[in-house]
Amino acid sequence: MPNKIVHESGNLHVTGKAVYIDDINTPSNTLHGFIVTSPIAKGILKSFDLSDALETPGVHAILSYKDIPGQNQMGTIVHDEVILVEKDIEFIGQGLFIIAADNEHCALNAKAKIKMEIEELEPVISLEDSMKLGLKLHDTIVMESGNINTEFAKCDHIIEAQIENGGQEHWYLETQVSLAIPGEYDEIKIYSSTQHPSETQALIAEALHVGKHAVVVETRRLGGAFGGKETQANNVAIWASLLANKTQKPVKIRLFRDEDQKITGKRHPFLINYKIGFNNDGIIKAYFVDFNANAGYSSDLSMAILARARTHAENAYFIPNIRIESTAWKTNIPSNTAFRGFGGPQGIYAIEDAMERVALKLGKEPAEIKYKNFYKHDINNTTPYGEIVENNRIYTIWDKIIEDSDYYSRKKKINEFNKNNEFKKRGIALTPVKFGISFNTPFLNQAGSLVNIYTDGTVLVNHGGIEMGQGLHTKIGQIVADEFGISLNKVKVNATITSTVPNTSATAASSGTDMNGMAAKNAADKLIARFKEFLTKHWSANTYKCQPENIIFKDNKVIDLGNDLNNIEFTEAVNLLYLDRISLSAQGFYKTPNLYFNNETQKGRPFHYFVWGISISEVELDILTGRHKILRTDILHDTGHSFNENIDIGQIEGAFIQGVGWCTSEEMKWDKKGNLLNHSPDTYKIPGIRDIPEIFNVELLKNAPNPNTIKQSKAVGEPPFIHGLSVFFAIKHATAAVNDHKKYPNLNIPATHEKIILAIDELKNNK
Ligand code: MTE
Ligand code: HPA
Ligand code: MOS
Repeated sequence: MPNKIVHESGNLHVTGKAVYIDDINTPSNTLHGFIVTSPIAKGILKSFDLSDALETPGVHAILSYKDIPGQNQMGTIVHDEVILVEKDIEFIGQGLFIIAADNEHCALNAKAKIKMEIEELEPVISLEDSMKLGLKLHDTIVMESGNINTEFAKCDHIIEAQIENGGQEHWYLETQVSLAIPGEYDEIKIYSSTQHPSETQALIAEALHVGKHAVVVETRRLGGAFGGKETQANNVAIWASLLANKTQKPVKIRLFRDEDQKITGKRHPFLINYKIGFNNDGIIKAYFVDFNANAGYSSDLSMAILARARTHAENAYFIPNIRIESTAWKTNIPSNTAFRGFGGPQGIYAIEDAMERVALKLGKEPAEIKYKNFYKHDINNTTPYGEIVENNRIYTIWDKIIEDSDYYSRKKKINEFNKNNEFKKRGIALTPVKFGISFNTPFLNQAGSLVNIYTDGTVLVNHGGIEMGQGLHTKIGQIVADEFGISLNKVKVNATITSTVPNTSATAASSGTDMNGMAAKNAADKLIARFKEFLTKHWSANTYKCQPENIIFKDNKVIDLGNDLNNIEFTEAVNLLYLDRISLSAQGFYKTPNLYFNNETQKGRPFHYFVWGISISEVELDILTGRHKILRTDILHDTGHSFNENIDIGQIEGAFIQGVGWCTSEEMKWDKKGNLLNHSPDTYKIPGIRDIPEIFNVELLKNAPNPNTIKQSKAVGEPPFIHGLSVFFAIKHATAAVNDHKKYPNLNIPATHEKIILAIDELKNNK
């Protein structure tokens, strides 16, 4: 099958015909759901009176926490998030009451009539303040290997530094949305913008105090998610369900852009302290790193995100003595959450920063220092958490990209350029990536499917994964079409529905295709076994005995390689099975093999395999304005044996540029009271078309089949986000050129124009 198949919804996306949740035709009695949110970041809801508000024309229901039939709780891992405030208010935008009304206008009228008494308390907004006050959300977790204390004492050099990174708004184009439709008895159907339908279903069942079997969550597609809908679509889904349950009418809630940006969580800002010990030859001997994350008001996924930061703290480098500490700190802002990379980018940012500093200190080329410290093949290949690094591809990638990108000669030219130009400086940087694939919570690594063949020979694939633009359904369609040897247009991937495939994991950790693809294949294989069993008998006659291994599925036909006469259309075979009363529907299941992790010792094998890549970016900086442009980026990235190169390259390009946004222009500004000041696209700058590198070479590593995965491919969704760091370090390199690389610039993520100017000022004035 050709390997460049386009996205199954591509046509619909570009013509506006794709049906997102807000586009679903709603029954005429559908009500508008509205949330009354907290105007303060910390305080106490002392009393409230909804009676006047309930009299407002067009209002069907107003609910407080007292009206929740089940648990007032939507915390996923830790139960520390109420659905509606009972007493303690913890951030601006927290849900106080929910209203079902004929329209928004009626809801706003009702809101104005709600009486409440709130006592305002002093909020904690910044990570620094939370750390000063000791507001740990959980105990610090430590991962350790070797002995840093004895090794630091032996090192030729030690560098200590403090760095930080900002948060990042997901900026999915479709804001959080849910349509809840009540059925008979306690049944309810919810269309939700969730990456995790089974969890959304579970929380709704608990809130409504009904069995999960009464709750059906359905999702056709998301208009982007990027981790922002792994947990944080739940609120809207639960609120809509509560209102639908109360009014017994359909209720839709769709957040406005500004509202969505204000009340949902983002990537975790980190404050990182590190200490790195190394010898004159540039070999790293010891590394201590302390990750502090601004978690926001509740746990959400923070602990899992810190776990991924820990398991990515060493990136592609073997560091024999390492101690990684990590702490989630509580603040009065929305709860920060999953975002592409899931703590990995923050972890890798720190070690890459350390590598750059080591190089500067030794007066050596940073790429050389990185190369020297890469994991080796048979020795020095154990990660700090005890997993052996197998199939290390960093050297193959290095050899090719260093040559293709002309790295060393360009670096020379850049140094020349910088000598001859006062107001423009250029910089180049190389960023290696090693990213672990699997959920870092082993039990989540399971997936299911249900494949139905109909008597006209068409196939409907159900699986537990969510299509969010990443091309999951396209790939699953390809997998099943290939198994049955039929055209792709005979296979349709269904919307994701909790009643068809139950108890699924989030589509996250980049493992959507790996796991659901295997589950779909498993179902298809079961069906193929039924075809073969039947046809073996059907095609054996007198002296000829048909062998099952001779039966193949190809070109929309089923063929017996042992007998030319046995050659029928796939549809005909389907009908033969049907007439013989053989089931044409099968469930599939998959669990990623050999994963384990001990939380006490922080050792195990959390990842099925690693994804590798290297990026090289060159930028030009205008040192008077702080503006930069990306002159060129080369990325060589490992997707195993890619079975959809278009999609994989699209994922790499998109992830890279999203990484660039995090590293450069995206900055969150909170005031002291906990208001997010920039909550719309005119003040929050995501990358645009002009931010794409002038020369942009993205290549997939060739001849790199991955053992033991679907079609020998590798996951692609998150790892290339890290390549955005090459732009950040190129900017840093260009910044350092203002005083001839004598000093390491004091420049953090995001390197906005303003911050670049400040860093340049510091360097020039030798502050
Ligand atoms: N690509 C698009 N277009 N939209 C998205 O929301 N999410 C990313 C990545 N690529 C995302 C995307 C994230 S955070 C993850 S974990 C993976 O896709 C999830 O899908 P997969 O596991 O099928 O790759
Ligand atoms: N990625 C995304 N979501 C998760 C993970 C992960 O590694 N672990 C638990 N939830
Ligand atoms: Mo992706 S952050 O694992 O949804």
